[in-house]
Amino acid sequence: MNIDIFTLFPEWFAWFSSQRHVSNVLAAGTRLKCVNPRDHTPLSGGQVDDTPFGGGAGMVLRVDVLDCALRAHYGVDPVALREQRRVIALAPGGRLLDERLVEELAGEPALTLLCGRYEGFDERIVEHFASDVVSIGRYVLSGGELAAMVLCDAVLRKLPGALGDERSAAEESFSAALEGNPEYPHYTRPAEYRGWRVPDVLLSGHHEQIAAWRRERSRERGAPAPGRDEQ
Ligand code: ADE
Repeated sequence: MNIDIFTLFPEWFAWFSSQRHVSNVLAAGTRLKCVNPRDHTPLSGGQVDDTPFGGGAGMVLRVDVLDCALRAHYGVDPVALREQRRVIALAPGGRLLDERLVEELAGEPALTLLCGRYEGFDERIVEHFASDVVSIGRYVLSGGELAAMVLCDAVLRKLPGALGDERSAAEESFSAALEGNPEYPHYTRPAEYRGWRVPDVLLSGHHEQIAAWRRERSRERGAPAPGRDEQ
């Protein structure tokens, strides 16, 4: 998979790329590249944003700047780019990122992520360049970078070789193996701590009973409970 991230803060992704599960998939051939729109701006002084028409606080990422950056990187009109690959603008009001969307994106050969800053994007970026608008939650971050990292983290751990043990991904929360439910609880040594005992079945060595217990706990966690937020 090829992931390009358009961000004014490419240095943030150096730390992200060095994390084990990310570096594992990068070593296995996945590419993650940052492009800084500031390096391609046609405006003087490295300008990339401007004040919003109609007034209001903050700055808005300019459509002409992103047009130049996308065109310089891909060598095509960005309007045509979204026919070739998913171009995802990160914004608080977009489609909420969930396991279904993560699975869908993990099956793509290439992704382009657009990180807004300050007040976000000129809307024409979203209208004409993006194929998707994705949100990681209904709250406002100071930019799309952390959202892009969350999306990449969730997608990359689906790729072969990301996790040491492939079973970790197969039986994790919301997977088909768990019928879309959250994962069952885990315990490790000590078997008893301050009087809090690990469930006996997990110490029993009976694999079928353990599997049945885990499925049951997972189903319980998936059942709507009062106060649990539904989307
Ligand atoms: N940019 C700012 N806030 C965001 C959010 N919650 N999700 C995605 N991108 C964002």
